[in-house]
Amino acid sequence: MPTFETHTDANAHYQSGFANDFATEALPGALPIGRNSPQRAAYGLYAEQLSGTAFTAPRAHNRRSWLYRIRPAAVHQPFTRIPADMLRAKLVANFADVPPTPPNQLRWDPLPMPAAPTDFIDGWVTMAGNGAAESMSGCAIHLYAANRSMQDRFFYDSDGELLIVPQQGRLAIFTELGKLDVEPYEIAVIPRGVRFSVALPDGEARGYICENFGALLQLPDLGPIGSNGLANPRDFLTPHAAYEEREGRFELVTKMNGVLWRADIDHSPLDVVAWHGNYAPYKYDLRHFNTIGSISYDHPDPSIFLVLQSPSDTPGVDTIDFVIFPPRWLAAEDTFRPPWFHRNVASEFMGLVHGVYDAKAEGFVPGGASLHNCMSGHGPDAGTFEKASQSDTSKPAKVDATMAFMFETRTLIKPTQFALETAQLQANYYECWQGLAKHFNPEQR
Ligand SMILES: [Fe+2]
Repeated sequence: MPTFETHTDANAHYQSGFANDFATEALPGALPIGRNSPQRAAYGLYAEQLSGTAFTAPRAHNRRSWLYRIRPAAVHQPFTRIPADMLRAKLVANFADVPPTPPNQLRWDPLPMPAAPTDFIDGWVTMAGNGAAESMSGCAIHLYAANRSMQDRFFYDSDGELLIVPQQGRLAIFTELGKLDVEPYEIAVIPRGVRFSVALPDGEARGYICENFGALLQLPDLGPIGSNGLANPRDFLTPHAAYEEREGRFELVTKMNGVLWRADIDHSPLDVVAWHGNYAPYKYDLRHFNTIGSISYDHPDPSIFLVLQSPSDTPGVDTIDFVIFPPRWLAAEDTFRPPWFHRNVASEFMGLVHGVYDAKAEGFVPGGASLHNCMSGHGPDAGTFEKASQSDTSKPAKVDATMAFMFETRTLIKPTQFALETAQLQANYYECWQGLAKHFNPEQR
């Protein structure tokens, strides 16, 4: 790492660029030329607009796509709530309804793989979040663990945009707008409303989801960094149009305000033959991140590792920051090189895709998670502090074979009842700082 190779199916082709105005067709001439809604679309297709922002949003933020499909999305039977005895996912979408948020530092072991057959949607459990889906503000943070492909089942999220961070097992995501093959070290983003189905090429899969109720994720400004760096736009990949013409007895599932609903549908909704626009799923390989850091002393704030942001109405203050801690050289001299001790107004939910995080020698394992809420003190554990305080900083050192990440938010990240009661919650997390000895000696500088 970093890697510049393709890590996915060589037969899968993508369009490159972040939120470009893409145009793609699976049959020649399926896309109308020069207009969106011809009286009769080619091949007997229906034209349908999918809007991800208000019609009147400024052009720089306006996101919509035009879909040319075999049947409109309106064609399905009425939705009914999935009965409680069939419901496996444990979901929260309104964080006014969760227990009081403890000021403690919290950490969890990975969720076990499910014992019963569980697909990608059934395998969700909400760990924490803020705001509410119904007011389109805040986010929910879910873990997923699945051992079965979605069979004749399709899903769309009415509540938000899905930022999926696989930790174990590949995901083959067939969306209305094309196919995304995603593996650990990559992320996928599925816009609100886009229908999809997930197959598991490795049989099992586990990872993290940040469900963004608010403004769409975007690339951050770079300021004095210049015109290149961090996540470069051309490394974001959006699928070409792909469709299936399949009829039978299928199920369409959606999540609205945290409740799962199902409808019978007699055809595959993945029937978009052509589309154009800038509202589309995409993936990004985190190994392509251009990591920037200090080459003198100290190290910058972790905002230097920002991949994607969901902006709030306050300039410079994000509702969600997606930040990664990738492999990198540490070169700062006479510097305590791991992350420093800190307390922030922001709240931090961390996960680990692979390896060891450089602030914690033990206890934070791939698939696990930690939560440090507003003003909760945290930082390196005692062992890491002692080691880093003695290490030779006259030479660069490589932090290698690791990929940690953080969902950072401006408001409190409130753990759910599940997260506070699960056996995976580590009761002894606080102990990692108890060994930090007093070194103070007023007689010795
Ligand atoms: Fe932190």
